[in-house]
Amino acid sequence: MAGRVRLELAAGVEVEFADRDSALRQLAEIAERGTRLPMVVYGPEGCGKTALLMQARLVLEEHGYHVVYADPLAEEKEKMLMVSEPLRGILREVLTLLPEPLSKVVNVALDVAALALKRLRRPRIAILLDDVFQAMGLDRVERLAKSLLNLIEYPPGDYDRMVIVVASSEGRSRDILARHAWTSTRLMWNMSREGLKELYYALPGAKPGFEDVWRLTGGNPRMLAALYEHDWDAERVVEEELVAGKALARLVARLDDKELELLREALTDPDALFRRLRDPAAQRLEEKLVEYNLVARLEPRTPSLWLDQPPPERDEELGIGRWYAWQTPLHRTAVEKALRLIEPH
Ligand SMILES: Nc1ncnc2c1ncn2[C@@H]1O[C@H](COP(=O)(O)OP(=O)(O)OP(=O)(O)O)[C@@H](O)[C@H]1O
Ligand SMILES: [Mg+2]
Repeated sequence: MAGRVRLELAAGVEVEFADRDSALRQLAEIAERGTRLPMVVYGPEGCGKTALLMQARLVLEEHGYHVVYADPLAEEKEKMLMVSEPLRGILREVLTLLPEPLSKVVNVALDVAALALKRLRRPRIAILLDDVFQAMGLDRVERLAKSLLNLIEYPPGDYDRMVIVVASSEGRSRDILARHAWTSTRLMWNMSREGLKELYYALPGAKPGFEDVWRLTGGNPRMLAALYEHDWDAERVVEEELVAGKALARLVARLDDKELELLREALTDPDALFRRLRDPAAQRLEEKLVEYNLVARLEPRTPSLWLDQPPPERDEELGIGRWYAWQTPLHRTAVEKALRLIEPH
């Protein structure tokens, strides 16, 4: 069993990668087999996709892979592109050939992998790409997916095994990829109650009871960290991070009457979106809620298509339905708040 990476959960709080036992088992299986298609992982913002990729680096290296990891949106430059020790020479070589390498992080990552495939004798190669669809724009999603598939199917050199995983919270790219059979999709949800509890106890200082924190975050570790950093003031997290952060008043102010009515319905039952999806107003609203990372699409429910545990089929309190879920209860509260803001007084 692989060790666990250390991660920064909140300002000044480091934790060990927590829970996600089934995801770790799945990663070990992926390492044994490789991926026949590039695997694209979707999940709510802050649910732990990047953390999982960090852990995947470790698992894959322990299985003898050379790993290339790219995150064009990383805040620190050193985290944009990371490669396993034996590939560092190749990375330096590729970087000297390019004028502005870090603006083209993904291309550099793919060049490093391609050159490694040419140079090394039947290597195990893993390419982990974080947030690339957001960074590159929707018009390049198909091209990237196809070039990843080409690398698996027509590699520039023989390999033993290859793993390609892309993590994304850009929900709309899923529609684009769904038109092709170039990738396989895996869905991811927030953390389990036990997982969140581990992180909750790792946070120092006085804090509200765990049940309250669970009901606010629904297991989302980023929301947990946000609560901690705002002195557990949920109101402030909703206002500052979500209503203001996502400009939700503007979003709801632009909805027409039908969309507004449906949005109110979706606050109590997110599956209302699905039931009414024949209606163009519902389609528009659904797309907006997905685009703004407020609501997540939960289909297909097939357990093997999920990384780690899927959410329950229904949890009204957390805003989870069969087809759709609010990304976290705080996201739902933020939309309620935005609706109140635009109501005439
Ligand atoms: N299993 C875990 N154990 C410990 N900490 C975790 C775990 N999963 C996530 N975290 C922490 O929770 C926070 C949010 O996770 P992360 O950044 O991985 O989310 P994300 O899904 O990549 O979000 P985004 O969609 O914005 O990219 C981070 O501080 C991360 O270190
Ligand atoms: Mg991330």
